[in-house]
Amino acid sequence: MYNTHEITPGLHWIGGNDRRLERFENLFPLRFGVAYNSFLIMDEKTCLLDTVDLSISQLFLENVEHVLNGRTLDYLVVNHMEPDHCGNIESIIRRYPDVRFIGNAKTFQFFEQFYGFDARKNYQMVKDQEELNLGSRTLRFYTAPMVHWPEVMMTLDVTNHILFSSDSFGTFGAHNGTYFADEMDYRRDHLDEARRYYANIVGKFGVPVQGIMRKLSNEVIEMICPLHGPIYRNEELALILDKYEKWSHYIPETNSALLIFGTMYNNTENVVDALATRLGQLGVRNMRIYDVSEHDPSYLVAEAWNYSHIIIASPTYNTGLFYKIDGLLHEFVSLNLQNRKFSLVVNSTWGGQTLEQLLEQIGKMKNTSVVGEPLLIKSTLKEHNMLELDALAKDIAASILNE
Ligand SMILES: Cc1cc2nc3c(=O)[nH]c(=O)nc-3n(C[C@H](O)[C@H](O)[C@H](O)COP(=O)(O)O)c2cc1C
Ligand SMILES: [Fe+2]
Ligand SMILES: [Fe+2]
Repeated sequence: MYNTHEITPGLHWIGGNDRRLERFENLFPLRFGVAYNSFLIMDEKTCLLDTVDLSISQLFLENVEHVLNGRTLDYLVVNHMEPDHCGNIESIIRRYPDVRFIGNAKTFQFFEQFYGFDARKNYQMVKDQEELNLGSRTLRFYTAPMVHWPEVMMTLDVTNHILFSSDSFGTFGAHNGTYFADEMDYRRDHLDEARRYYANIVGKFGVPVQGIMRKLSNEVIEMICPLHGPIYRNEELALILDKYEKWSHYIPETNSALLIFGTMYNNTENVVDALATRLGQLGVRNMRIYDVSEHDPSYLVAEAWNYSHIIIASPTYNTGLFYKIDGLLHEFVSLNLQNRKFSLVVNSTWGGQTLEQLLEQIGKMKNTSVVGEPLLIKSTLKEHNMLELDALAKDIAASILNE
């Protein structure tokens, strides 16, 4: 049975939810599933903006048919050629064989790479900022390469000031009956997941994100419809635009300490707890401590986007970094994390290259520095380490509190 919602006159949300999916992209754990948004404009011409994942095809096709209510489909705009939004292009073209399939050269190239279905007669190639009139409204297509794939476009309804933003502004989590961010406790329930989505999926592409935001900066935008999660308008629109400004410039939101440790026998954890307690005594607030083995890296990546100061504590493992710490730092580097202050704790029993490896990874991130002297522990924290621990805590606290 169909499930659709008219979000503004003539604009229908016709997507769906997958609440069983364990991991998005088979990588990122989902606590509350994921939503695939798709939108159908009913004007003099009918226009579908993106399809959905294959897992919800049946519902989606019913939704399309229900909203079309006997009319045919004139246009299918494909803003993003990733399979979570393209699983139903073939079904749509088979059902509406005259539909014009709107994309750019890369869209069609990827379509042909992914699918064996010949849709060449349906192709309608558009260029950056080309327009399409649907009757009472006009769409303008903006190419947004590498946000987060090369073929990505954003489509602006210039008449109604609605931006169909592709994966940008997307959030993990299924819908809960309301579709606008202002119809839920967005800050409490969704902002952290929006950050996790951004940091892990779009985070590497801060420069292209800034590019498209600049390109759109002269446009009036009153609503953003992303391909996953809530739709933004009013205050929440201002909030998420502000977050994207910060996130894409790698500007931390929380001026405090994020402490991430690895441990086998809890001795390194003990050092981190002692360091954090000292930081608290020195006036640092809102710290967070994470055991790297207890959390999926995507949550720690999101926290790294959030926090200004990152303290990494690693035991020595086979002469080098504890590999979950190594993997996390590799992810930070690969996602272009920058503009952060790091402090280091190394625990070793006989010796190794752990500190050198930490410094090497941090050196690969732009605009980072190491605050304080790295704290070197032999197996367990001892009374004679306390002076050095205290000195490190003072340096970190001064750096946080003076910012
Ligand atoms: C499999 C394994 C390999 C280790 N390799 C090294 C090493 O190469 N060099 C070293 O100094 N300590 C090594 N250690 C000892 C750990 O560094 C030591 O257990 C750690 O410093 C204690 O911290 P933790 O209680 O937080 O795990 C190793 C420990 C394990 C279990
Ligand atoms: Fe995507
Ligand atoms: Fe997506």
